[in-house]
Amino acid sequence: MSIKDNPPHHIPVLLDKVIETMNPKRGESYLDLTAGYGGHASKILNITGNYLESILVDRDEYAAKNLAFLKEKGATILNTDFYHACCELIDKKIKFDLILIDLGVSSPQLDQPERGFSFTKSGPLDMRMDRRQELSADYIVNHYKEQDLLEIITKYGEEKLGFAKRIVKAIIKNRPIKDTKELADVILKEHVGKWSKTHPATRTFQALRIEVNQELAQIEMTLPLLKELLNSGGRLGIISFHSLEDRLVKKYFKSEFDAGLEADLIPVNKKVIDGATEDVYHPRSRSAKLRVAMKK
Ligand SMILES: C[S@@+](CC[C@H](N)C(=O)[O-])C[C@H]1O[C@@H](n2cnc3c(N)ncnc32)[C@H](O)[C@@H]1O
Repeated sequence: MSIKDNPPHHIPVLLDKVIETMNPKRGESYLDLTAGYGGHASKILNITGNYLESILVDRDEYAAKNLAFLKEKGATILNTDFYHACCELIDKKIKFDLILIDLGVSSPQLDQPERGFSFTKSGPLDMRMDRRQELSADYIVNHYKEQDLLEIITKYGEEKLGFAKRIVKAIIKNRPIKDTKELADVILKEHVGKWSKTHPATRTFQALRIEVNQELAQIEMTLPLLKELLNSGGRLGIISFHSLEDRLVKKYFKSEFDAGLEADLIPVNKKVIDGATEDVYHPRSRSAKLRVAMKK
């Protein structure tokens, strides 16, 4: 299987708001924990000019390769997941003035059928951001027990229990399911009545993606590490795309802010920045939420 060398461009979400709230300054160091195709990173690094003390992380090797244009200018690229990157950087006692996490998937991941993230085109049941890992969507769809499938579709897809039960039974009955299109069709057949905006397979695909990449576990394990990586006065920005992610970020920030005089982090934007109202021209921004905190 070949992945295009020049994947489609990824348009960074809430870029102006990230710059406005995180307020990068000349000379500041930068850690991008989900660097993707370098949209946020190139804008921020252009302002700070400090490539040599900046580190760009992505667990997807295609994204990491595409960050070569920032490596050429002196930035360090780490092709690993953000939890392990943070552990490594804490061990090395490296700190940053700016840390950004832009959660979720990139446009190139979604748009390339070979990656198996999307049901709009036929592709393998893959969904691994890091293709060195073993677990893929294929294993989950074709081998997980009924109860485990039901749990991830209701928990990570937030699918209604009745529909989730029908989806799981249909998946098991139609095994082996060989690709994304076939899976989407199996789910669609279970849907009763008309649907308009959201394809009935959307929530199941979200659930599979979260399970394959252990996305919520990555966030939960990483959040408590971030303040250790910030210099005093450093800013941490996190963009989330669905309620499961945002709930974790919100809860973490709240627990930090509520510590009063003991708090290490203080809020920069009191009210969450909501892509639905801020950035209507970019369809992927609609569900984005940006929260920014500063280390005391
Ligand atoms: C929304 S994109 C980021 C786009 C980037 N901000 C830009 O402007 O180009 C999210 C990226 O984060 C990466 N990613 C998601 N979870 C990750 C994790 N736990 N560790 C490392 N990278 C992760 C994905 O592979 C993807 O490339």
